[in-house]
Amino acid sequence: MNRLLFVDDEAHYLKGVERMLHHRRDEWRLCFAQSVDEAVTQINAHDIDVIVTDANMPGKSGFDLLEILQEADHTSRIPVIVLTGDADTALKRRALEYGATDLLNKPINPEDLVARLISALRLKSYEDKMRRQNTTLEAKVKKRTRELEFLHHDLVWRLAKAGELRDEETGDHVMRVSHISRLIAQALGLPDREIELIFLTASLHDLGKIGIPDGILLKQGRLTPGEMEIMKHHCKIGADILLMKPRGMQEFYALKTQTPPELKMGAKVREYAATIAMSHHERWDGNGYPLGLAGDAIPLPGRIVAYADVYDALRSERSYKQAFSPEAAWQELQECAGPHLDPNIFRAIRHLRPAFEAIRDTYSE
Ligand code: C2E
Ligand code: SIN
Ligand code: SIN
Ligand code: FE
Ligand code: FE
Repeated sequence: MNRLLFVDDEAHYLKGVERMLHHRRDEWRLCFAQSVDEAVTQINAHDIDVIVTDANMPGKSGFDLLEILQEADHTSRIPVIVLTGDADTALKRRALEYGATDLLNKPINPEDLVARLISALRLKSYEDKMRRQNTTLEAKVKKRTRELEFLHHDLVWRLAKAGELRDEETGDHVMRVSHISRLIAQALGLPDREIELIFLTASLHDLGKIGIPDGILLKQGRLTPGEMEIMKHHCKIGADILLMKPRGMQEFYALKTQTPPELKMGAKVREYAATIAMSHHERWDGNGYPLGLAGDAIPLPGRIVAYADVYDALRSERSYKQAFSPEAAWQELQECAGPHLDPNIFRAIRHLRPAFEAIRDTYSE
């Protein structure tokens, strides 16, 4: 049932409208208001499908009503027919400027009124339908986006895991490095989007170890300086894998008649991951590798992941070293802050030792 609201300060006009429409359309529910305030109360209480308002009223006018209706999203879509005198050209122009849907001359001709109302209601029902469709569509897109996001995270993690499987002693190192890195990013007050990016891509920091020969990667005991030089290639190898141009992919998407998804987001994720792979072994004092960057020249995500990586390596047993106790590891981490790790970050994460340990408890091999 359509609900129509008529607004006029003169009671006899409203009575006239009621008489005119009563017998013509009994599927219309008629509501009446003698002032803008009264009209607003009714509009807030019921879903109104069309409003017919007098332009000139004492106190708040039809224009005030139009303005109030524009303010809220759900009322701005209600069609409004404004009643003016036949000769009020200026008033008519103003009504249209204020967002009136249609104009009607006073005195009202019943046939005109019914015709205008029918067309305004048709407009309203069309808009309602579009709106319902949009809402359904938005929900579908959201669901699909969530699924794709999950798939994306899942693939990133599997890629990281694939790299780690060869490095048999590290267990759940990548998962812990991701979680610890996220904690640090949060402690530094980075924006949510960036925290999420770090969490996602920190797991790929050692992806390049996939390209290190077994004899070195799996060596029991200390590496020779020459072997260590080869081990250092893992940063660049990881970044190269992440930044490779996916040539075969172009053809795949061409087949599906889609634009190649050089998606901004995907590119950003890969660049972020590559930055971390490339910079997680740089040192604050400039004596790190592969580029020997120092201080703030080292990308922040690399400085963050370095903390997570070193802490987790310290707490883990390796073929060449014992695991440090939580106390000893924290002590060592503190000593690394300055020469090796960004000392400003350490100040922000002082209180996080128990949280780091909780992550180790949750993701232990
Ligand atoms: P990883 O074992 O995951 O260690 C990551 C980083 O944590 C190391 O990078 C180093 O900065 C820090 N770290 C590890 N253990 C200690 C420690 O006892 N004290 C301190 N202060 N920091 C520590 P780094 O040294 O560039 O090594 C990169 C990767 O190379 C290591 O990853 C590991 O996979 C391998 N690696 C390094 N040295 C040796 C070694 O002597 N023998 C073998 N088999 N592998 C090594
Ligand atoms: C990834 O899955 O490693 C990122 C690739 C992309 O989103 O394009
Ligand atoms: C290291 O990275 O192996 C040592 C860090 C330091 O204390 O300088
Ligand atoms: Fe590494
Ligand atoms: Fe690592």
